[in-house]
Amino acid sequence: MSVRGQSLLSLRGLTPEDLLEVLDTAESFVEVNRRSVKKVPALRGRVVASLFYEESTRTRLSFETAAKRLSADVLSLAVASSSVKKGESLRDTIATIEALGIDAVVLRHRASGAAEQVARYVPHVRVINAGDGQHQHPTQGLLDVFTVRQILAARRGARGSETGAALFEGLHVLMVGDIRHSRVARSDIDAYVALGATVRVAAPPTLLPPGIETWPVTVVDSLRDSLEWADVLALLRLQQERGTGRFVPSLAEFTATFGLTQERFALVRPEALVMHPGPINRGIEIDAAVADAPASVITRQVANGVPIRMAVLFLTVAGAREGEL
Ligand code: CP
Repeated sequence: MSVRGQSLLSLRGLTPEDLLEVLDTAESFVEVNRRSVKKVPALRGRVVASLFYEESTRTRLSFETAAKRLSADVLSLAVASSSVKKGESLRDTIATIEALGIDAVVLRHRASGAAEQVARYVPHVRVINAGDGQHQHPTQGLLDVFTVRQILAARRGARGSETGAALFEGLHVLMVGDIRHSRVARSDIDAYVALGATVRVAAPPTLLPPGIETWPVTVVDSLRDSLEWADVLALLRLQQERGTGRFVPSLAEFTATFGLTQERFALVRPEALVMHPGPINRGIEIDAAVADAPASVITRQVANGVPIRMAVLFLTVAGAREGEL
C-alpha cells in the first residue's frame, strides 16, 4: 500500500517499506531546500488546494511552501472569509474546488474522518490529511520519525537513507501527555511501531483513550521511572480546544505530575531527544527552558515539515520515482 499515486489519509497499515519510501524521498528534498533557488519543476502545471477548517501555523505554511517549491500552483482557501461562513457544506465546497481543476487537496478539519469523507466525494483528486479531529495527522508522524532518523544517522556519520529502518530497532519512545485527544500520538505510534521502535505512554488515566489496552504500546503509571529509559521523549500538547481541561483537575496539577519540568529533565539521558509537535504550552507540558535546551529538536521538527510534505505531495500527486526528481 505505497503512498505513490494514492491519497494519504492515515499511517495505519503502512509498511516499513512504504514509510521508508517517503523518508528517503524527503531526504532528497532536504538538499533542494539548502539551495539558493529552492525550487524544482516536479509538479509544474499541477494544482494543490489548501483547505484548513481549523487553525494551523506549521502544517499550513509548510504544505504551501512545499507545493510552491515543487512548482505547483496553490489555491489557498481562507475558510473564515469563504462561503463556508454562509453555510456551504464540506461536500459543496469540495465540489466547487474540484470544478476549478485541482490535482490534490490538503485538508485540515476538526472532525475525525473528514479526510476520508472528502476522498469519497472526489475520488480522482489526491486527498492529503493535514489533521482530522482526534484521528490522524500522518505528515506529522512522518516528519517526527524522519527527524529522529536524521539525527541518529548523523551521530553515526551516515545519511538516514543509508540506515533504512535499522535505527528504530530497539529505540525507546516515551509519549507523554494528552494521548486521548491526540491525532499526533496515533500517527506517531503507527509510524514508530511499524519501523520497529518500542513505545511507552505516560498520562493521567483520564487522558488515555478508551481501548488503550489494544494499542501496541505499554502504559506506564510513573513518568519518572521511564525518563531514563527513553531515547525519544515525545511530548503532546494539552488540547484546550478539545476539552482537555475537563479531564484534569487543573493545569497546575497536570504540570506537577506529567509536565517535563527542569527537575524531571535532569533525569533524562543526555543523548535523548525531546520532541513536541507544537504549538507548545510553555510552562504546562514543557518547561520554557527545557523547550529551548540543546536536547530539544522542536525547531528541527518544524524545518523537516517542508521536505516531508514535498515528498508526500510528490509521491501522491506525481507518483514519480525518486530518480525522476
Ligand atoms: N503540529 C501542528 O500540526 O501544528 P499546527 O497546528 O500549527 O499546524
